[in-house]
Amino acid sequence: MNMITSRAAAAPQAALAAVHMSKVDKHFGINHVLKGVDLDIAQGERVVICGPSGSGKSTLIRCINGLETITSGEVVVFDEQVRPDNSTLRKIRSNVGMVFQSFNLFPHLTVLENCTLALRRNLGMTTAEAEEIALGFLSKVHVQDQARKHPAQLSGGQQQRVAIARALASRPKVMLFDEPTSALDPEMIKEVLQTIIELAEEGMTMAVVTHELGFARRVADRVVFMADGEIIESGAPAELFETPRSARLAKFLDQVL
Ligand SMILES: Nc1ncnc2c1ncn2[C@@H]1O[C@H](COP(=O)(O)OP(=O)(O)OP(=O)(O)O)[C@@H](O)[C@H]1O
Ligand SMILES: [Mg+2]
Repeated sequence: MNMITSRAAAAPQAALAAVHMSKVDKHFGINHVLKGVDLDIAQGERVVICGPSGSGKSTLIRCINGLETITSGEVVVFDEQVRPDNSTLRKIRSNVGMVFQSFNLFPHLTVLENCTLALRRNLGMTTAEAEEIALGFLSKVHVQDQARKHPAQLSGGQQQRVAIARALASRPKVMLFDEPTSALDPEMIKEVLQTIIELAEEGMTMAVVTHELGFARRVADRVVFMADGEIIESGAPAELFETPRSARLAKFLDQVL
């Protein structure tokens, strides 16, 4: 099998798409940030997105849960077209969990309150029901002992694991991670990556923006390389990292490896 067919064979089947992006364009004023992006993510697939700063990686994943409104094209998440009205966004976000570089926990709430807020407000659970679920996910990411503390009392790695637990508590079908470890000290990167690896091993569908290429090799079914608002190459991590086809990917790999 030649390289082109083997890379094509790695593409997911449309029938199973968790996320379908077609001809997506995004402008910020005169800045054309996404240029005709096509990307499908199959259920159970783990996709890593990498590329230089400013290439549109965050914008791309923010379009999946409607944090950014696309200029043209189509984004479909589990058969629901992403549109900017509140009722659609509620549905989309109930299926899509998001974890940011900067944790984004509410500083005035305890860890447990951070994790129960959406369950109580959006899903109408009682405090007791929400706490039981939240504590289950806090245990899963090994921070249950921190439940009564405030975020500022936790390490960065612990805060990020709380953010992951908070996202998981709403039972999303797909998880989006935007550079989840790039604000962390080196010793904490591993613990957060390990949490994401465990989720991946359980079959969670995920898109992860990261420059942790070791993680990509271990976890990703497919790596997508972006530059200047376009997907330049995508394929299995070993193929993509060992035999980059474009000069831009070769240069990027030189800089990050
Ligand atoms: N809210 C916004 N308003 C205006 N321009 C924006 C906004 N968000 C992003 N941009 C611009 O869109 C382009 C792509 O940004 P984006 O944050 O998606 O890149 P990125 O690949 O995630 O970069 P990084 O690796 O630095 O996080 C950049 O030129 C950025 O300045
Ligand atoms: Mg970004």
